[in-house]
Amino acid sequence: MSEQRARRAYVETYGCQMNISDGELMEGILEGRGYEIVDAPERADVVLVNTCAIREHAEQRVLGRVSQLNGLKRERPAMVLGVTGCMAQRMGRTLLEQAPYVDLVMGPDGYRTLPETLARLNGGVRAVPEAPATGAVPPTEAAPVSERSGRRGPQLAVLQLDMDENYQGLEQRRADGPSAWVPIQRGCDHRCTYCIVPYVRGGEKNRAAPEILSEVRELAERGVTEVTLLGQTVNSYVWSDVRFPSLLRDVARIDGIRRVRFTSPHPNDVTSELVEVMAEEPAVCEHLHLPAQAGNDRTLRRMLRRYTVESLLATIGRVRVAIPDIALSTDIIVAFPGETDAEFRDTLTLMRTVRFDEAYTYKFSARAGTPATRLPPDDFVDPDEAQARLQELIDVARGVQSEINRGEVGRIEEVLIEGEGRDAGQIRGRTRRNKVVVFDGDPSRVGSYTRTRLERTTGATFAGSELRVGPREPAAV
Ligand code: 5AD
Ligand code: SF4
Repeated sequence: MSEQRARRAYVETYGCQMNISDGELMEGILEGRGYEIVDAPERADVVLVNTCAIREHAEQRVLGRVSQLNGLKRERPAMVLGVTGCMAQRMGRTLLEQAPYVDLVMGPDGYRTLPETLARLNGGVRAVPEAPATGAVPPTEAAPVSERSGRRGPQLAVLQLDMDENYQGLEQRRADGPSAWVPIQRGCDHRCTYCIVPYVRGGEKNRAAPEILSEVRELAERGVTEVTLLGQTVNSYVWSDVRFPSLLRDVARIDGIRRVRFTSPHPNDVTSELVEVMAEEPAVCEHLHLPAQAGNDRTLRRMLRRYTVESLLATIGRVRVAIPDIALSTDIIVAFPGETDAEFRDTLTLMRTVRFDEAYTYKFSARAGTPATRLPPDDFVDPDEAQARLQELIDVARGVQSEINRGEVGRIEEVLIEGEGRDAGQIRGRTRRNKVVVFDGDPSRVGSYTRTRLERTTGATFAGSELRVGPREPAAV
């Protein structure tokens, strides 16, 4: 009987690493309370779409997907369809009104109560076991917002942001594999004028350092060798008297951890101490993602980034002196309201001056409620012009990237094998400097380290060949 089998949940995540990590957290919470996690919505009793709000385009895509999932719900009316994450927080009840088939909206601070909330939605279909006595359930707003005709039950909204919620004591459900995301911080205390994050994720909250360290130790015992520490401004982490550089050092020294990465740092918190730890600790990878956002001081000031081009270049200079081989990536926004063509060209100059190994490029997207939306309407850059700027930036960034990568052909690099390549018989790995290498090999090798020679580049990724010590054995590294 259906009441007897475990309920099945499916979580589909969009957006950044933090959101992927939140998806794993939701899966962990549900699994801990008796749910079976499945990998297809068709097999699930509960379908959660874990969303991103950073750009309008991302939201449009998700709304399309949610309406598509409603097709499944029509076939199986008992299915619960929930929207979680940043877009759920941003749209709240509006989303329930726009998409009346959605049963639940839940923001990023509500996940602890997911099992109870789902139980309320299911109105006794199957009782969910009580939360363990140790896990205090924080107050949440979970009120029926409508009981429209045609709906089987209430719609629920859990939208309270909670400065104390850092999900202490709850376990993520991580896929088996060599790499793990480890959130160390949630929310953000900056107010960059284009950014919705502080409004949908609240202020900065840092997890207790001992808890982070014991989590990484456990991961290492389970075979994880690479961890990525996550936070919105990860290097501003502070807990008690532990600051980010010392946490990073402690993580890097855990037995079994061979690679440590972190994302995303704020340029202003790239302190000398942090650079020293990065240079000294063998496990910390020679890669830094440093979101620049723009290459013009007036734009940076109006974005409230709190640094200048000069200070950013000085930071990058310090990093490169200490770690000459470091690979740098960045995020750039073009067409921020009021950005002139000349100011945009300063961003191109920054790209050429710094020579970033990789750039994630975005057109400004107005997010309701952020200060940038209150700039004079005439300041908004014409969409065609914005598109042209984006394309020009992409061309410059790709040109720089492919020049750098062509110069790296012939290098021998340690690679962590992450998965299969696109073609049969090929596997794909990543170097410490975050470059993707594809080479011949067996998928059973996923999770292991090897050494490859970079043979060719497409500009963005490499084709390599594995170095072998003997006729059969891959080189140990
Ligand atoms: N419009 C365009 N890009 C944005 N980002 C954040 N907010 C916006 C916005 N409103 C970009 C920034 C950030 C990255 C994750 O997304 O570059 O670093
Ligand atoms: Fe957004 Fe700025 Fe915070 Fe990054 S630092 S999450 S861009 S407000």
